[in-house]
Amino acid sequence: IWTMHNFAQATIDELKQRLDGKKVICALSGGVDSSVVALMLHKAIGKNLTSIFVDNGVLRAGEVSEVAGIFRETFGLNLVVVDAAKTFLGRLAGVTDPEEKRRIIGHTFIEVFEEEAAKIGQVDYLAQGTLYPDVIESVSFKGPSATIKSHHNVGGLPEKMRMELVEPLRELFKDEVREVGRELGMPESIVSRQPFPGPGLAIRIMGEVTPEKLASLREADAVVQEEMRNSGYYHKVWQSFAVLVPVKTVGVMGDERTYEDVVALRIVDSLDAMTADWTRVPHEILARISSRIINEVQGVNRVVLDISSKPPATIEWE
Ligand code: XMP
Repeated sequence: IWTMHNFAQATIDELKQRLDGKKVICALSGGVDSSVVALMLHKAIGKNLTSIFVDNGVLRAGEVSEVAGIFRETFGLNLVVVDAAKTFLGRLAGVTDPEEKRRIIGHTFIEVFEEEAAKIGQVDYLAQGTLYPDVIESVSFKGPSATIKSHHNVGGLPEKMRMELVEPLRELFKDEVREVGRELGMPESIVSRQPFPGPGLAIRIMGEVTPEKLASLREADAVVQEEMRNSGYYHKVWQSFAVLVPVKTVGVMGDERTYEDVVALRIVDSLDAMTADWTRVPHEILARISSRIINEVQGVNRVVLDISSKPPATIEWE
């Protein structure tokens, strides 16, 4: 029988043959797909692979050091981390439209990535974590999320870069990719990660992205991640995250009046992100998340729970 163990070994052997002596680059996002691609290629061609991780300034707390730590130290990848936060945040300043934010982040990503790739010199191949559903969706079927929100993680790069594509996961579904990851010895913290959108925290701050709002959302998000993990719920849901709603509401702290922003909790069950239902999370977990966010996060005095399903709402708020 064809197992993911066989798949991993056969694919690594195939890549070894096909890419012998060639230079390959890949964009590592820290998500499961690109992580598995990078690790397979590393096992196939070692230092001839350069992985590029772009810090776009809208990543979650601790993400850069976690990803760099795992891939550089544990796996010995040839990894370039580009700190492009200033460029991204500069271009996002004053921008409030969600699709405009996506466009800016998408274009800037390509620009930064190309710049880094040019520094490496002659590169023959670009490796991507395209999955089977991505192939189907871009060939024959436009799902609602593809037309309602422009995703930037598929496409864009290859046309511009005139490199041959390597897409070793083209025939796999997400759960199979996770299995391959486990086969390769990838830590569970990467393998069973919830999906995180390419435009990152930028589309979880309604309206303009400012450094202050970003700091608040990052802290609130870290609380959600931590409490979901501690309660064992992180792996039971499709996604769980915080959204910063920059609407001021009145609160009270000690004997002082406060007038601060709202954080919404978005926790959903889904099989494929096409439809989703809000998760009935036990109240004690919600209570802990809420009181921690209000106590620990500057500028937030109220937490609300999003109880909308998709459709008609979407998973993300922008
Ligand atoms: P929605 O909000 O459309 O999200 O219900 C469906 C799934 O897609 C993710 N998502 C994105 N992923 N770039 C991405 O790479 C994007 O612009 C983007 N927008 C939404 C979302 O997190 C959910 O898993």
